[in-house]
Amino acid sequence: MKIGVLASGRGSNLQALIKAWQEGRFSAEFVAVGSDHADAMALKRAEDAHIPQRAFPLKDYSSRKEQEQAILEWLQESGVDLLVLAGFMRVLSPHFLKELNCPVLNIHPSLLPSFPGLHAQRQALEYGVKVSGCTVHFVDEGLDSGPIILQEAVPVEPGDTEETLAERILKVEHKLYPEALRLITAGQIKYDKKK
Ligand code: GAR
Repeated sequence: MKIGVLASGRGSNLQALIKAWQEGRFSAEFVAVGSDHADAMALKRAEDAHIPQRAFPLKDYSSRKEQEQAILEWLQESGVDLLVLAGFMRVLSPHFLKELNCPVLNIHPSLLPSFPGLHAQRQALEYGVKVSGCTVHFVDEGLDSGPIILQEAVPVEPGDTEETLAERILKVEHKLYPEALRLITAGQIKYDKKK
């Protein structure tokens, strides 16, 4: 499998995936890491791992549509047949998903369908839930929606701030995403209608 990754920022999930791959926990090839931010730490992590990487800053394009088209063409030229979103903070258009025509995965720091969108941990704290967590799912045309692959619960502790909760969830994300990649690259995930 040729894996492409899109990430907007820090890229700690990308790093966890690269580490698992280097340790031989799944067999695949990372062929492209793209970002909508030129200064994304994720690009540096890709470079360090000798994975082709490229930035697509919005200022280089006349519209978001053009920016997305450039990302799409680059992923297609790279031969990507599995796209992994790792902290990519944009919703991909139906056109993009149709044209790319391969499975797209996302990780989100909540137990979806609760708390999609930005600031999932803040949403969880504001709601007052006692348990949150993270979700790996196939991407459809909605916001943080699509068939769920793996989920793990994480407790919300009294006195948690957005930062402490995010950190606790992130540790689990770094375990869950490589496991999802392992299952997918081993052909152990079956996509059946909405599930
Ligand atoms: C992660 O917590 C990820 O789940 C979240 O962004 C963070 C990226 O961190 N993604 C979303 O909220 C997607 N809606 P990272 O750049 O260190 O991997």
